[in-house]
Amino acid sequence: MRTQVGIIGAGPAGLLLAHLLHRAGIDSVVLERQSRAHIETRIRAGLLEQGSVDTLTEAGLGERLHREGLKHDGLELRFAGRNQRIDLFGLTGKRVTIYGQQEAVKDMVAARLETGRPLHFEVSDVALHDIASKTPRITFTHEGQAQELRCDVIAGCDGSHGPARAAMPPEVMRLYERVYPFAWLGILAEAKPISHELIYARHEEGFALATMRSERLSRLYVQCAPDDDVANWPDSRIWEALHTRLGRVNEGPVLQKGITAMRSFVAEPMRHGRLFLAGDAAHIVPPTGAKGMNLAVADVRVLARALTAFFREGDERLMDSYSATCLSRVWKGQRFSWWMTAMLHRFSVADPFEHRVRMAELEYLCGSEAARRSLAEQYVGLPFDE
Ligand code: APR
Ligand code: PHB
Repeated sequence: MRTQVGIIGAGPAGLLLAHLLHRAGIDSVVLERQSRAHIETRIRAGLLEQGSVDTLTEAGLGERLHREGLKHDGLELRFAGRNQRIDLFGLTGKRVTIYGQQEAVKDMVAARLETGRPLHFEVSDVALHDIASKTPRITFTHEGQAQELRCDVIAGCDGSHGPARAAMPPEVMRLYERVYPFAWLGILAEAKPISHELIYARHEEGFALATMRSERLSRLYVQCAPDDDVANWPDSRIWEALHTRLGRVNEGPVLQKGITAMRSFVAEPMRHGRLFLAGDAAHIVPPTGAKGMNLAVADVRVLARALTAFFREGDERLMDSYSATCLSRVWKGQRFSWWMTAMLHRFSVADPFEHRVRMAELEYLCGSEAARRSLAEQYVGLPFDE
């Protein structure tokens, strides 16, 4: 088999890339380890920056997103019995949209299948070869057959544990990591959200977040131990923690329960030879700033443009600047996510100085429009640097 771009991974990064390339007349093959049902039901975060919504809309993927997505003009911070609204729209002129990541994935899978171009699910043994040459290859097994895909370029969109980053020569890579001493326990509950907007709470017992998926579905998170087990969290304990940390929340049947680890991670550079990493394959953020999917979308915008210049005009300049362009945004997203995480969580080693500084930070936000504007412009998404 032969294609122009071999894409490993059908998460938001791989699927959006395949779609943007198709619209630019560039051929690709997408290889995904999981089944279609698996990727379409995997529950992840669900907050899109205005720029991500614009990108999906311009790509013709915005129809259901605009119909079902919930547009938010603000958010609320709760701490020490206080409530502070951040008027995102008033401060920046931009909004965010709540739309489950798996819904965006469903839209992108449907768009891909409509083009009739290859999207193979349940492939195994994916391995990359000759990435430093002009003729890289991917070998894999599909429906019991060993296959080889010859490409001009490989896009590693295979998330944090995929084979693409591992195929980069370790001597050219630098890895940066921060692991946090806590995790998030998240539930999806059939209950009316308590507010139209998201509520982020700092409490002495730990962080909590009230978000939503629809008028009838609440998505709620509480800080838990990094090695916690959902078995330690019967529904009654979760509701109690939510009531303590957030105030009254509406209870309802818990439809799903899971633990999300908290990690900041960046791999540099994001390109070696003809292999380009995008999304979680290159960087992970803790979910507090809701930047994960948005950074993946931003990488893919840059990559699609670079590959279009390459395949149309043989111009490699945007490919050469791909890594630096993406990393500039990635590190700002990392900084913001790390800062929001530190401000809102209780670190397990009780450190009274740290606690005071974080409370001062929240009080500063309450008293300063400049501080709120800074939070808001990062939360709604910095402008694309293109
Ligand atoms: N072979 C083929 N596919 C693979 C392999 C492999 N060996 N390993 C992983 N994959 C697939 C995964 O099954 C997954 O569907 O790659 C895909 C990667 O998708 P995501 O993890 O969703 O990553 P990405 O597309 O970069 O999207 C980033 O996802 O994890 C969230 O918070 C993150 O919201 C962010 C977004
Ligand atoms: C979500 O809706 O799942 C969500 C929203 C905001 C976050 C994290 C998760 O910061």
